[in-house]
Amino acid sequence: MRPYTYLDTNAMPWQDTETPGLYTKYLSHDPVNGARTALQCIDPTRGYKPPATAHYHHMDEELLVIKGTFTFDGTTWLGPKAYCFHPAQTVHGFRSRIDDEAWFISRCSKELDFCLYPEAKGDTPYSLTDAQDPRGVTVLADPEVGEWIDVKDSAGSVKLRRRLLSRHPETGEGSMLVRFMPGWESPNGDHFHTVYEELFVLDGTMETDDGHTYGAGTYLFKPPLTVQSRPKSASGALAYINFGGKLDFVPAGRLNEFKN
Ligand SMILES: [Fe+2]
Repeated sequence: MRPYTYLDTNAMPWQDTETPGLYTKYLSHDPVNGARTALQCIDPTRGYKPPATAHYHHMDEELLVIKGTFTFDGTTWLGPKAYCFHPAQTVHGFRSRIDDEAWFISRCSKELDFCLYPEAKGDTPYSLTDAQDPRGVTVLADPEVGEWIDVKDSAGSVKLRRRLLSRHPETGEGSMLVRFMPGWESPNGDHFHTVYEELFVLDGTMETDDGHTYGAGTYLFKPPLTVQSRPKSASGALAYINFGGKLDFVPAGRLNEFKN
């Protein structure tokens, strides 16, 4: 499991990689299975060339676009907030193209590999294995369109809206966008989850009762049983949240029960 991580990604320098025009900010890394989350920048004006043929990976790959646009198939352009989930061994990237600098969050479920696959057929992502991944391929060019669920307070006011992006039907692991309305305050006091939670603030600002402020570009990785202060958002915020299973809320006072 990755350790607790808190980063202001705005303050981090881009690191060069072995690929021209590809720059990275490493956010977190699991030393056991190699899973990692990174903020990536690809810039064709500085030499980035998208792969000329399709490819696949041996790990699940998840992307959320932060800025700019690019396409994997030459047809569907992915702009800010666009989302992709490619299970391991999904052939994709048939006609990748990018015209200007783009940033995206990249999540890999284990050590990243990259397998070019020039013999790919068609232009629709497909699996190289007979066993279909139960989470399946997800490509959402515009998550603003689709099923947003309103969460209301006791007076009937919408306090937050959430949009599930994808979720494993058995483990519950998945991702969502959450829009916290101005003035939102969590109904949960100091609490923890029994699963990990990973959060990237896309816009706006969040705060916690213990005095922390998390602006756009903040990244957090909270392992299971990480006690957190009550979150709130005076001005509103949008966050991309990944969770390791059903996101439960357990009062901090019960922590010893779960640690034993
Ligand atoms: Fe890929």
